[in-house]
Parts: sequence; structure tokens; C-alpha cells
Amino acid sequence: MFEKNEIVGELLMKFNAPRGTNDILPPESSKWQYIEKVTHDLFNNYNYQEIRTPIFEYTELFQRGIGEVTDIVEKEMYTFEDKGGRSITLRPEGTASVIRSFLENKIYGQAQPSKYYYIGPMFRYERPQSGRFRQFHQLGVEAVASNDPALDAEIISLGIRLLEKLGLKDLDVHLNSVGCKSCRPKYVEKLKIYLNNHKDELCDNCKERIERNPLRVLDCKNESCQSVIKNAPKITEHLCKECEVHFSKVQNYLDILQIDYLVNPLLVRGLDYYTNTAFEIKDNALGAQDTVFGGGRYNGLAEEIGNRDIPGIGFALGIERLLLSLEAQDIEIPVKASVDLYITVIGDRAKKEAFKLLDILRKAGFKTEIDYLGRSVGSQMKSADRMNAQYTIILGENELKSSTATIRNMESGNEKEIKLNNLVEEMKMLVDREVK
Ligand code: HAM
Repeated sequence: MFEKNEIVGELLMKFNAPRGTNDILPPESSKWQYIEKVTHDLFNNYNYQEIRTPIFEYTELFQRGIGEVTDIVEKEMYTFEDKGGRSITLRPEGTASVIRSFLENKIYGQAQPSKYYYIGPMFRYERPQSGRFRQFHQLGVEAVASNDPALDAEIISLGIRLLEKLGLKDLDVHLNSVGCKSCRPKYVEKLKIYLNNHKDELCDNCKERIERNPLRVLDCKNESCQSVIKNAPKITEHLCKECEVHFSKVQNYLDILQIDYLVNPLLVRGLDYYTNTAFEIKDNALGAQDTVFGGGRYNGLAEEIGNRDIPGIGFALGIERLLLSLEAQDIEIPVKASVDLYITVIGDRAKKEAFKLLDILRKAGFKTEIDYLGRSVGSQMKSADRMNAQYTIILGENELKSSTATIRNMESGNEKEIKLNNLVEEMKMLVDREVK
């Protein structure tokens, strides 16, 4: 959308970014780069490799993968017809695409499990609020083709270790098992009977959910629904033997890793593909949108979209929410907004020499800047100050004649003359390279 303003006969158009989207501007973008760097390093350390799938997919992938009666598929997808008449959807999440790619590229023929991670934008038409956007960014992991409960613990611990590396503390790990296709339907029937017996006490939304998606009732925040939910039958008491053993092993492995968790039988996720382990990591300081990351097992997803019985588990973390969580816990991300060197130029001839020097210093690895607005020496110094330059290198006619440069330490104000052909070596000794 844009606003039109008439200004003395001139038409001025002012565009705004679409509702629910954000520009990530510097210096904020440095924080994103830092988080991405920590993620790449840590995930590689756990032997997860990056996968990049398309930002849009055929709509049917998400309808089948996420589930027809989920909020995401019913209300939140950015779906459109392309010029060839195909129904296309901007990805609302990454898991369905990863499994589609795994099947399409026949990765199942290779040594397993396959361990992937991704970082990128996702799209959901939701009501924007703090921590909830229409374009948001997830970093996610998926471990495909193993049902080992140790992998469930690895996935959860990987998410926790990432948050720990970034300095976050006091997060609550909620853990549940949502059963499998043999035990869940029996539980859902029991739940439906219970909910129907208490229908009058439920909100209109939940009344409607009893038939369509009764598990979602367990997630309702409405007060009167909450008192019904409290006494509802618990999925953890209705697991088949196999699911019970799997769940108990996941807990054992988490204990080995010394990860605290809370078994929460009311935890249900907003996507239909989950089986067995489901988890969410919450930061109470975040208010209504308090889930920093969530995930679980999806042993039926490959069957649903590709007729292959291949298990998988993963999680996705919202980067915007992660940043809010860091802010709420007063954690500063160490970003370097300053430059190492600023070349101050006096006169045209010096500019040419300075431009050459700029290239040499950058090649030597210094973050170096120069004036591009033809400013006075005083203004160039102010500019260097604003950029928190460690040193300025002053180059004028006098310096050119003696093949030297004057360098000034911007903190102490001390100046020193250095031969141009020694400059790189001298600067290597002087510039504090620790401050990255
Ligand atoms: P999800 O719970 O829908 O799961 O999303 C994961 C995370 O993405 C949330 O915990 C939240 O931090 C962030 N998020 C979701 N929607 C928004 C939004 N509108 N604005 C800002 N952040 C948001 C999934 O997407 C699954 N694919 C996770 C998964 C991976 N399960 C298995 N593997």
C-alpha cells in the first residue's frame, strides 16, 4: 500500500512494507549475522548439514503435510495461482519441504540418518503482534530416517545448547508424547466423549473443535475451557506399549544430558504431522507468544506425502522471538559496528593515493572507510568518530611529499608519523583485532 500526498503540485508516493513484515536494518542485521554464525558452527558440530529448499511449493504439499484442518492450512497460508494456473503457497514452515526434498531426491537410498538444518523466511497470514509476524524467520533442524529416542534427545539438546550459547537462561522445556496412529485415535475418541459431556462449559471455538480437531481444545487459553481441560483424559495415560517405551527412553536420554523438562500431557502442536515426542521451549518473559522453539517427531509425514514409511524428528526456532527473548533477558549480542581505520584525505592528489591505500588496507583485512562526500577535514574526523574508528590515517600534500601518513589514535588523540610502505605492518601491531 502507499499513501499519496500532494506537495505543491508534486505527487509524492510513500510506500510502506506490508503489514506483519519487517525491514532488518543495520546495526540490527549484525545481530542476525551473529546468530546465524553461532547456528552454523554449532549445528555443524552436531553434524547437521544445511539444506535450502524453495520459498514456495505446490499448495498440496502443505495441505497433506501440515493437515487440512489446522489453522495454518485453513486460514494462514499465502496461496495464489501462478501464471500457469498452478496453486502455489509461500512456505509457512520448513519440515514438509525437507521431507519432500528427501523423497524427491531419493536420499533414502543413502546412509542414514540424514541430518539437516535450514535458516530462512516463512509466511503465515496471522494477526501481527509482538513476536508474531506474517513474514518471520525460522532456523530449524530435521533428522530423518531414524526412530532412535536418543535422536529425540539430541534434537532437543541441540536447541537448548544453541540458546545457552547465546546466553539465554531459565527456559522451560515442555515435553509430551502424542502417541502414534495406533494409540492416538483411541485416545481422541475418549477425549471427544469427555469434551461432549462438558460441551456447555466450552467456548464457541472449542465446541466446534470437538469434531474437527479435538486435540486443539487442550491448547485453549479460555478460562472456562481451562477448567474442563484440567480434568480431561491425558494422552500420556493412553499410549500403546511401544510409544510408552519410546517416551520413557527419550526422558532417560534427556536425564543423561542433564536437561530439565516438564512432562506436559496438555502440550499439542499446531501441525497435524506429529507422532510420539512433542516439545516446546518457552520463555515466560515473552508474554502471549512465549514459545521460542517447538517441534517433535513426525513418523507418518513421509507416508502422507510420498508413500514411504520413514520416521523423522525436528524443531524450528523463531529468530524474531529469539531476539525478543535475548532482549527480555538483557543479553547483548557482541556485534562490531565500528571500523578499524578511517582515511582522512586533504586535497585531490592525496585522494588518489588514499584510494589506493584503502584497497591495500582492506586486502590486509582491516575494516577501512574513506570519505565519499568531499567533506572538510573536520567533518571527516567527525565521521570517523561516529563510526568509532580506532585510528584515522591522515593523508595530505605534506604526507605525500615525505611518503608518510599521520595516524591518530581516536581514543587517546595521540598522533604518529609512519612511512607508507610500513603502514600495513604497523597497523597490524596497533589495531586491536580482538574486537570483532
Ligand atoms: P511451529 O511451532 O509452527 O513449528 O513454529 C516454530 C517456531 O516458529 C515457533 O515456536 C515460533 O518461535 C516461530 N513462529 C511461528 N509462527 C510465527 C509467527 N507468525 N511469527 C513469528 N514467529 C513464529 C513448525 O513450524 C515446525 N515446522 C517445527 C518442526 C520442525 N517440527 C518438526 N520439525
